[in-house]
Parts: sequence; structure tokens; C-alpha cells
Amino acid sequence: MRIAISTGGGDAPGLNAVIRAAVLSAVSRGWDVLGVRRGYAGLLGEDEVIPLTRDSVRGIGYLGGTILRTTNRGNPFHYPRRRPDGSIEDIDRSDELIARVRELGIDAIIAIGGDGSLAIAQQLHERGLKMVGVPKTIDNDVSGTITTFGFDTAVSTAIEAIDKLTTTAESHDRVIVMEVMGRHAGFIALHSGLAGTADVILIPEIPYDLEKVCEKIRERDRAGRRFSIVVAAEAAFPRGGEASIMGGSLPGEAPRVGGIADRLAQEIQACTGKECRSLVLGHLQRGGMPTGYDRLLATRFGGAAVRAVAEGRFGEMVALQSPHIVTIPIAEALGEPKRVDPSHDIVVTARATGISFGD
Ligand code: F6P
Repeated sequence: MRIAISTGGGDAPGLNAVIRAAVLSAVSRGWDVLGVRRGYAGLLGEDEVIPLTRDSVRGIGYLGGTILRTTNRGNPFHYPRRRPDGSIEDIDRSDELIARVRELGIDAIIAIGGDGSLAIAQQLHERGLKMVGVPKTIDNDVSGTITTFGFDTAVSTAIEAIDKLTTTAESHDRVIVMEVMGRHAGFIALHSGLAGTADVILIPEIPYDLEKVCEKIRERDRAGRRFSIVVAAEAAFPRGGEASIMGGSLPGEAPRVGGIADRLAQEIQACTGKECRSLVLGHLQRGGMPTGYDRLLATRFGGAAVRAVAEGRFGEMVALQSPHIVTIPIAEALGEPKRVDPSHDIVVTARATGISFGD
């Protein structure tokens, strides 16, 4: 038996723990394991396919990033290629990829990725490759699994940042707006904002009204709390408006959301007269060592992915449905996007503790 492992999309703390657990589980069954570097680039002649042995994964379980590297511009069905005139065309390289998989004698592929990479895994499965998915995203926006590894680490990083911003905001009587990741979903903002005791949390699932945000800040001022912390998911948007999009996306890359912190800080300063500052927490949320929770979840996912291959559960992905790791069809997970439920107890409790959602 020969399997391959690939990591696609944005990295997330815990990827190396998945790789380690999958390699050790497979090797102990006597299987051969290959690592496809940089998404599927290794199978398209643009990077390498490397053997993964016990030695290759020794000591990597606690490391952030991915030893296989990754890309969010490597969809083999829509691969960006530069024409001689410099313009970019989008080509389907899936036949080439499938031929290379057969040539290398790969029996099954464990694809570790978020919704984009899982959609590619599903398409490859429909084209006859034996795929098992492992959901990965710091945004926690993959359905069918209670959580994804990387999310806990990102939330912990955001909480630590809120703690630090609170002391400086209080010293200066300032409002500080902190922007966190979450391209489609507000989980990082919600969880870190509640645990870090922010004053305002803005998420795409609850469009905000600037006047309500400012009113919360004025109300705190009247109560002698002259500083405020606003945690905004990068994709949050005002009622009737749209999320801020940053320019500069590369070919094959999805549009990049972001810029809300700076915009909001200016708007809040204009409407309250208070001194405002902004911070984009950015890729700090994706970097560094995974928390113990993420390391354990990632390790469980890696082991479960190999068991799924052994049991022939192709076209499925591993998922946490506490207390168990199960497998579910990738198509099912992709069917319904996971978003914050505005009636969830976390939102209800946040409101009960006085946090405003700007609505
Ligand atoms: O999908 C995870 C994510 O962290 C999003 O929250 C964010 O918009 C995106 O990745 C940014 O990724 P990159 O800078 O790698 O394009």
C-alpha cells in the first residue's frame, strides 16, 4: 500500500501533527508514504514528491506550519498559467495530476485542507482517485466537525492580544479596534472576544450599525470606563454594506478580505470624538506552536485518516463529533457552510455580559 499526503490552502497550527500521526500510523502498517509538496504542485512537476518516513516526522508534532509547504493558488482544475503576453489563463491540469498519481503507484491520498482543498479532494474523488480528507482551518468554518485544529491556537493568540491591548487602551482612554481572521465566519472574533472580555464584537453573521457601536462606547464612557476594545472579524460588514476587500490578490487567489479595523477606527473616532487605534492581528493567528488541544485533535485526525484509508472510506473526511472522531462524506461537509448561529449560547452569553454586536 502506498499513500500520499498533501497540505493545501492557508496553513494552520497542527498540520505537522496530522502529518506525523498519519505517517507513523501508516508506516506501522507497513505502508509506504509520500509527501506531495506545496499543495498539488509536487504532482504537477512544479515541486517535489518526497518519501515520508519515521525519520522525516521525528520531532515535528509541536511545530507550526507544514513541512510539506502549502499554497492557496494550486487548484489543479483551475491552475493559473501565464501567457506569453503576461496575462493569466486558468487551465485544467487534473488529467496530468491523475496520470502522475497512477505513475507513482499511489493507492490513496490524504488531503489536508479547508473548504477549498476539500472541494478539490471531492472533485478528484469523483474522477476516480481514492481520497480521504482532513479538515483544516483556523476559521473553524468547515461543517460536519465540531472544530478544526488551528482554531484553538488562533483564539488563544487573539485572547492574548486583547489582554495586551486592554492595558494600553485603558492607560490612554482609547478605543482599540482589533481585526481577526475569518474570511466567511466570525468564530475567532466571537470566541476570543467573549473569552477576552471585549466590549464590542463584530462578525459577518450579524451586520452592524456604526451608531450602535458608538453608542456602546459612549455608554462605557458615561460609566467611567473610558476605553473600549472592539474585536472585528475581517469579513464583518455594516448593515446594508459590504466587507472591505484589499487589493493585490495574485492569479488563482481568492479576493482578500480585510481593512475593517482601520476603517472602523476612523469612523468611531469621527462619531465619538475619542482617540482610536487599530490593529490587524493577521498571520500571527496562523503561526507558532499549536496549543495542546490542537495538537491532540490534529494527531487524532492523522491517525483516523489512515484508518479511513484502511477501511476504504474514500470520498470521506475525518471529523470531530465529540467525543468521537468519525468520517463523513466530504460532499456532505461542503453542502452547508458553517457559520456562527446568532442564537448560539456563546452569542447569548456575550450579550448577557454586556458585549455589543453593534446590532
Ligand atoms: O482561511 C483562513 C484564513 O486565515 C482567512 O481567515 C484569511 O482571510 C485567509 O486565510 C488569509 O490567507 P492568506 O493571507 O494566506 O491568503
